[in-house]
Amino acid sequence: MDSIIVTGNGPLSGRIPIAGAKNACLTLMPATLLSDEPLTLTNAPRLSDIRTMTLLLQSLGAEVQGLQEGQVQAMSSHALTSTRAEYDIVRKMRASILVLGPLLARFGHAEVSLPGGCAIGARPVDLHLRALEAMGAELDLREGYVHAKVPSGGLRGGIVEFPFVSVGATENALMAATLAKGTTVLKNAAREPEIVDLAQCLRKMGAQIEGEGTDTIEIQGVDRLGGATHRVVTDRIELGTYMLAPAICGGEVELLGGTIDLVRAFCEKLDEAGISVEETTDGLRVSRKNGRVKAVDVITEPFPGFPTDLQAQMMALLCTAEGTSVLEEKIFENRFMHAPELMRMGAKIDVHGGTAKVTGVDSLKGAPVMATDLRASVSLILAGLAAEGETVVNRVYHLDRGYEQVVRKLQGVGARIERVRGE
Ligand code: UD1
Repeated sequence: MDSIIVTGNGPLSGRIPIAGAKNACLTLMPATLLSDEPLTLTNAPRLSDIRTMTLLLQSLGAEVQGLQEGQVQAMSSHALTSTRAEYDIVRKMRASILVLGPLLARFGHAEVSLPGGCAIGARPVDLHLRALEAMGAELDLREGYVHAKVPSGGLRGGIVEFPFVSVGATENALMAATLAKGTTVLKNAAREPEIVDLAQCLRKMGAQIEGEGTDTIEIQGVDRLGGATHRVVTDRIELGTYMLAPAICGGEVELLGGTIDLVRAFCEKLDEAGISVEETTDGLRVSRKNGRVKAVDVITEPFPGFPTDLQAQMMALLCTAEGTSVLEEKIFENRFMHAPELMRMGAKIDVHGGTAKVTGVDSLKGAPVMATDLRASVSLILAGLAAEGETVVNRVYHLDRGYEQVVRKLQGVGARIERVRGE
């Protein structure tokens, strides 16, 4: 297995291009299943999760070309051969459940393996299933699969009220509703930029949708959807992650393609901590010119709140802040597995249930560390940038799921970082 070696060497400077959003792409790709005409995505990121979704769509008979120049992902579902998503692929990635709504809406039946647990908590899919049931789907859970069908006449519009916000369940319901008979109203819907991006793409395909970006989305079902070409929105989590690089080790870095709207709550916390963020014509410029970062309290929430996917990285910053910060994780249970690894680097962290108290230390020290999930891995790299000496991050395959060319991007702003091939 490969590892990444980081050696802290002071302030960074330069520019980092930010890729298209992994999480947007993972819901835009299954949208191809709604139509027999081509769907082309531009600005798609080169990541292993995107390859997993490619394999899943191909296993259903969709044509998906590997990423071409210009990060173009061309897909067509005109000749699907299967409506069954097999366990072997689904178990690798929870987002696989996003094929359920589109398959059911277009073909009236689907079998999708249940994704199972994952490192950051139980993460069930009950809200996805309840939403589809509210549109008339009949579901049966057998042998680890959801067997779904709709009575003749197809899915019908209905009111879907989510008991709490779920990004994936909102996406599944939104895609399914585009082909349902009549009007569907999604209440307490997720408002993430990835949902807005999906709605915009579906609208280009001919869907009738209003209210995306608010907590109520209304969809008027249509008989069929056509093809479209769509540019994937900027990855706000990759953006926030690299904004933390100059915040953590000083200097000034411009993040190309970034906008404040994607990361407003996060920027407010950076401001409190004493980090400057300015909009430029090409993106966002982040700098930490002098003094130590100040401690700040963070609570993770659905968008527009502080994203859970930036909690681990923010913790890395707060490890060397002046004072004590309290981080509350409200979205996932068990999402502090990076804390014991950061402690190996000299951080002072006290975790109780969903709350972590971080008392800033003067400096971190390099150490061998291991990551258990995607965002945890990158938080260890960030911590390594600020640490004295060498940090070796093991199990970097997690990183390849969500960060393209992390080594090259950080080298480009002056970081001492390299990837070492394992046996
Ligand atoms: C998406 C993102 C993930 C991010 C998360 C929260 C993708 C591919 N992944 O994941 O990176 O961390 O949003 O911003 O877009 N839940 C249920 N039942 C369900 C669905 C969810 O109990 O049917 C719970 C989850 O366990 C979690 C919470 O709801 O505690 C929010 O999860 P959700 O918003 O659905 O996350 P994902 O869509 O899986």
